[in-house]
Amino acid sequence: MKYDFDTVYNRKNTNSIKYKKHPRYPDVSDVIPMWVADMDFKTAPEITDALQSASECGIFGYTELDDEYYDLLIKWNKKRFGFDIKRDWIVPCEGVLFGISAAIRALSKAGDSVLIMQPVYHPFLNIIKSLKRRPVVSVLNFDGQKYYIDFNDLENRIVEENVKLLLFCSPHNPVSRVWDKEELCNVVNICKRHNVIIVSDEIHSDLVFKNHFPAASLSKEAADITVAVTSVTKTFNLAGIKGANLIIANTDIRNKTEREILSTCAGEMGIMSAAAAKAAYRHGEEWLQQLLKYLKSNADYVIESFENTKIKPIAPEGTYLMWLDCRKLGLNSRELEEFFIRDCGVWMSSGFIFGEGGNGFMRMNIACPKSVLEKAITQIKKRL
Ligand SMILES: Cc1ncc(COP(=O)(O)O)c(C=O)c1O
Repeated sequence: MKYDFDTVYNRKNTNSIKYKKHPRYPDVSDVIPMWVADMDFKTAPEITDALQSASECGIFGYTELDDEYYDLLIKWNKKRFGFDIKRDWIVPCEGVLFGISAAIRALSKAGDSVLIMQPVYHPFLNIIKSLKRRPVVSVLNFDGQKYYIDFNDLENRIVEENVKLLLFCSPHNPVSRVWDKEELCNVVNICKRHNVIIVSDEIHSDLVFKNHFPAASLSKEAADITVAVTSVTKTFNLAGIKGANLIIANTDIRNKTEREILSTCAGEMGIMSAAAAKAAYRHGEEWLQQLLKYLKSNADYVIESFENTKIKPIAPEGTYLMWLDCRKLGLNSRELEEFFIRDCGVWMSSGFIFGEGGNGFMRMNIACPKSVLEKAITQIKKRL
């Protein structure tokens, strides 16, 4: 491998959120953090080089995105997903959640219903509630191996609750599904039938072990009702640098969303975000291929290690977050959390925070050197 994913770096005392003390267990020290979604790998060296050159001049004034930024983003999407984006569809902003919040504000009003499919990335529910929209939940089906969208329930909820907007997660965090083309077409058709706008969070789209299809790439009709939100921050471990793109083909939807972003008087991409994103799009592909191999091997290791135990990992199709079915341990949500933190010394995200269907599950971040993963699993298995 050209790139190094094995070295263990000390991130303690760097203001890293991942390495802070657990708010509910501040007395527990030396816990292995496998919760929040950032990686313990250094980003691609080409990105670090670009950031170093950007800082050399020492002047960090207001920055405009240049033609090159847009060209690189368009090429990346075409090459990786066959997604043809026009330059004027792109609305850059400072982060994925920032973009989602702006789109919800622009495209719905207080009291409107916004649908999410739980278990799902927990800030979705918080954003909907804090914007005074009404959350409507359709729970994913689980057959013991894999999660599926319950299309009947989805359509019923949309009709019965007069849903205006679907906040979709594709690939889906935390259950690691990369939706098939057919599943995506069904979602689009249902939304189209009932005039529902899709805000599709595709931040994990590069981190996949099978083909990802951007919802908006499926058809002209799909593009017409979809706000895609993408970023390289998850792919290349740049969460602290920020930056995202909303990709919106429909002019009316785009104008409304852009106006909402402008009204915040914030949200532009900064000079460092732009430099990092350009380097990622230009040079990042080989690093990403190697990262994916490393993640796949970590995922296989987790599956093998828990064979014939009371923990059943769900085979991930994408993301670096593994969803562990721990229901056979027979513990309630708080007991489960405490068991992993106090007894095993491993801090994962507790399933219940992702909403309905999350109880009894844990989400494990496997984007760490293999030696760290081995240590965590050894500590857990000793206690099973
Ligand atoms: C599905 C999903 N959306 C959004 C984010 C956060 O994106 P940002 O930091 O750009 O707001 C995450 C981070 O884990 C995520 O998993």
